[in-house]
Amino acid sequence: PLPLPFQVPLPVPAVLTPVGTSGGADRYEITQREASVEILPGVTTPMWTYDGTFPGPTIESRRGRPVTVSHRNELPVPTVVHLHGGRTPAASDGYPTDLLLPAGRQEHSMHVEHGSGHMGRGSGHMEHGSGHGMHDPRAVVSELTRDYTFPLDQRPALLWYHDHRMDFTAPAIWRGLAGLHIVRDDAEDALGLPAGPRELPLMIADRAFAADGGLAYPALDPTLRVRPGVREPYLAGVLGDVILVNGAPWPVHEVDAARHRLRILNASNARHYELEAVTGDGRRLDLVQVGADQGLLAAPVVHTLFPIAPAERYDVVVDFSGVPIGGLVRVVNRLGSGRTRDVMAFRVARKAADDSRIPRALSADLPAWRRSDAVRVRDFAFRAGQTHAGHGWLIGGLPFDPARTDVTTRLGDVEVWRLVADVHHPVHLHLVGFRVLSRSGRQPLPHDAGLKDTVSLRPGEAVEIITRFDGYRGRYLFHCHNAEHEDMGMMANLEIV
Ligand code: C2O
Ligand code: CU
Repeated sequence: PLPLPFQVPLPVPAVLTPVGTSGGADRYEITQREASVEILPGVTTPMWTYDGTFPGPTIESRRGRPVTVSHRNELPVPTVVHLHGGRTPAASDGYPTDLLLPAGRQEHSMHVEHGSGHMGRGSGHMEHGSGHGMHDPRAVVSELTRDYTFPLDQRPALLWYHDHRMDFTAPAIWRGLAGLHIVRDDAEDALGLPAGPRELPLMIADRAFAADGGLAYPALDPTLRVRPGVREPYLAGVLGDVILVNGAPWPVHEVDAARHRLRILNASNARHYELEAVTGDGRRLDLVQVGADQGLLAAPVVHTLFPIAPAERYDVVVDFSGVPIGGLVRVVNRLGSGRTRDVMAFRVARKAADDSRIPRALSADLPAWRRSDAVRVRDFAFRAGQTHAGHGWLIGGLPFDPARTDVTTRLGDVEVWRLVADVHHPVHLHLVGFRVLSRSGRQPLPHDAGLKDTVSLRPGEAVEIITRFDGYRGRYLFHCHNAEHEDMGMMANLEIV
């Protein structure tokens, strides 16, 4: 039985404490493991988790202060960690075949388990298993833990980490492998935006549940080991009928009658939302957008409704001061129907002082690339097509192949990319932020402002983006962030040289 809307309190994921600090870098440890999580009240749902919770723990970082996250994989399958929106060296960017193999399931790993007290703290641990398991070639590559290093030399923003394994990203995220990573800096702190309990991360994700309380997902291979893909009616992407925010179904959150900063992520595999905040008497509150995927806008943009595609983030300030005490403000998804129309609600509990502000100028460091800065223009079509495995989703007529380099660019080059779509495709580039230049020859939409890392291509649309391939050399990705499309081929390699 599903709960009524707005009964379950909104959880806020716990912030992870570093296990240590050395040389100005913080070190975190996360264990990927199966856990029974209470998502629906009174029901336990077996999930794949980061540290036993869904969402996983939040990491809070300062700009330019490097972070090492040591992941230990106790799941039954290999995994890959990607920090979405991170300006990350290729070695830690979570390439889909750069696997963190499961540990603790095979006999040889018992030896490795034994040393877990010091495992993962030194850099030489990765081949630790090899001495014990010479007879078993798997032992050589079996990693108990792996260190991902994130310099975080980037604009403050809401990032998120999630699984990215070749062919199986969608079901792994669905099972729970997603968490938030917030980057902050002094300039942003000094703006006076709502903070503390008045700043809320909201990870929105839809899920479907089976009668036994488990997550329902139409995987061809429920072990998620051999055969990728989903069953026939789900080729466009998997939708759930339960809307979760921070892992709770249609939650409610008590707020002061004051401004709140909502840091919204759409972590759904395939569901798009159009969000509005509606009061009891049908009034739509202003949603003052202060930031996009890659951090603060130059100046606030006022919406009463905005679309959010998978993997996009919107940083919005909502003022509850005009709402009667005791009143309910519902966050509504205009694209939903029936129960997927509701997302969550805020109960305005009490009058309160509010010294927060929304400055007219938010940030001055947004890149202002002009078309004339671009050294080349590339075209990519995001369309359905056939692969050897049957139905696929293709970029430029091709399904993803880790052995093929699709794009080679030089570090520092500015490029314009023209992206065209058959149906809805949220297109994401790793490593870089970009700006939206145009939509089907017209000015970008108001919600395209700022620096993005995911842009929602609407059906039949051509979107131009501009970016500078900056940061690191190496092999990166771009792909559709409809996670099922991604698993069915809609991904390509980007080599920065
Ligand atoms: Cu959010 Cu390539 O991923
Ligand atoms: Cu797509």
